[in-house]
Amino acid sequence: MDFLDLVKKRQSVRRYILERPIEKEKLDRIVESARLAPSASNSQPWTFIVVDEPELAYKVADATRGTLIGINKFVVQSPLLIVMIIEKPKIHTQIGAVLKNKEYPLIDIGIAAEHMCLQAEEDGIGSCMLGWFDEKKIKKLLNIPRKKVVGLVISFGYAPEDYKLREKIRKSTEEVVRFNSY
Ligand SMILES: Cc1cc2nc3c(=O)[nH]c(=O)nc-3n(C[C@H](O)[C@H](O)[C@H](O)COP(=O)(O)O)c2cc1C
Repeated sequence: MDFLDLVKKRQSVRRYILERPIEKEKLDRIVESARLAPSASNSQPWTFIVVDEPELAYKVADATRGTLIGINKFVVQSPLLIVMIIEKPKIHTQIGAVLKNKEYPLIDIGIAAEHMCLQAEEDGIGSCMLGWFDEKKIKKLLNIPRKKVVGLVISFGYAPEDYKLREKIRKSTEEVVRFNSY
């Protein structure tokens, strides 16, 4: 698919067919797309935990649900979750981050996350990045050491046939792009 068409087609999918698991070769491609992502100083400050065991996936999905605001209720329909752990980058990246006041690992996992979502889309699989979750619960469920940081969770799954491509709501080019000066 033409790259920009793929970008236009990817959207946050919030309905999945739970009974339709993601094929192993497609999962491998999703994970590979993240493994090959660029990162500051090539630190690759990440671990990706693939959660495909149904009972565990349900529990992790449940930990992304906001009880008060009803956010992420749909995630329990997802047959596959990938939990992204932010690892410590290389020492010179850590020093650079302090000197330049930049959170490079956060940028890095964002890139890896979008690689995964675009690769999934290319293979006809829907996805949704989830920044709202109970980190403590997820750490417990997945045996993640207390000191580690869970950066993002991504849900994946086939969308039902009637799931429509929405119009993208975005700021205009004029609002976000400037040439040669702020
Ligand atoms: C870092 C990040 C965190 C997000 N967290 C959530 C979330 O917890 N729940 C959710 O339904 N969508 C979440 N989203 C999806 C955004 O709401 C969505 O990308 C945005 O509204 C644009 O819509 P689109 O993805 O359909 O193009 C998140 C997206 C990003 C990039």
